[in-house]
Amino acid sequence: MIWVIGNKGMLGRELSDHLSEAGLSFIGTDREVDILSSAALEERAAEIHPAWIVNCSAYTAVDKAEEEEEAARSLNRDGVAHIAKLAISRKVPLIHISTDYVFDGSSNTPLHEDAPCAPQTAYGRTKLAGEQELRTIWPNHFIIRTAWLYGRYGKNFVDTMLSLMNSRKEITVVNDQTGSPTWTRVLTGLILTIIKQDKACYGTYHLSGEGSCTWYQFAREIYRMGRERTLVSSDCAVTPCSSEQFPTAAKRPAYSLLSKEKIMHAFAYQPPQWQDSLASYLDSLLEQGAKQ
Ligand SMILES: NC(=O)c1ccc[n+]([C@@H]2O[C@H](COP(=O)([O-])OP(=O)(O)OC[C@H]3O[C@@H](n4cnc5c(N)ncnc54)[C@H](OP(=O)(O)O)[C@@H]3O)[C@@H](O)[C@H]2O)c1
Repeated sequence: MIWVIGNKGMLGRELSDHLSEAGLSFIGTDREVDILSSAALEERAAEIHPAWIVNCSAYTAVDKAEEEEEAARSLNRDGVAHIAKLAISRKVPLIHISTDYVFDGSSNTPLHEDAPCAPQTAYGRTKLAGEQELRTIWPNHFIIRTAWLYGRYGKNFVDTMLSLMNSRKEITVVNDQTGSPTWTRVLTGLILTIIKQDKACYGTYHLSGEGSCTWYQFAREIYRMGRERTLVSSDCAVTPCSSEQFPTAAKRPAYSLLSKEKIMHAFAYQPPQWQDSLASYLDSLLEQGAKQ
């Protein structure tokens, strides 16, 4: 039995779909089994008897975390510590998701797993603290750092762009932050691969879409592909701007491209080019009758 914690979030819902389609047995929980309560976690674990735990729960409001770092730390550090203690007490491997925000964004070459961490935001600090707790408590873990996540469930950049492109004649998008978008399906594909292969190559891994782009270039592709599929119904000019022109409470990393070499070597898992995943995602939106 696989226990998906945080099953009502963007990733947790996609993972639940993917596990169902693959015919794997799983149980999902969200806020009703509070990760801040060890007792609640233990009680539920006694009913589930999990063979795997996948933690998709987190505090993910990046800008709001600047004002409420303690709340973010509770979930992203203490919550993870509770799950890790549960996992070690039951000797169950734990898959946990982390983020490119643990880096300072100053690199100009793809970031390997052992690159120095220097988070510049409250969210990044709390996610790094969660990683550190997990490493200290339970070695049988897979920490997967990902970036620029989007998918059919939850608020995300692709859906926001489609909505803006349908309602405005012009949008401006930052062109000085480089990374790679990650479709939730690609991440859940890796999670299923790790579970199926069941290898003891525990540790920290990076996963994002293959290739790289800026948010502006990503938006241009969303527009081009959206127009082709009539998901964008009228002309909209997409113009570049700088991060300074688009201030946010939490400063975004200028560079967060993740190296995928380690994950490809360990699990022979090759993420698709980000443009191919975007096309598949937009096709899936068409199939479900367009989300927006
Ligand atoms: N989204 C991105 O762009 C991105 C990028 C890199 C890494 N990540 C990481 O990927 C993972 C999944 O992200 P996501 O976007 O799917 O997150 P999400 O949509 O915010 O989902 C998180 C889920 O955890 C739940 N939760 C909150 N507090 C809880 C508690 N005390 N006990 C149990 N569950 C609780 C949330 O409920 P509520 O909604 O009610 O709060 C929500 O259903 C996270 O670890 C995140 O840090 C995300």
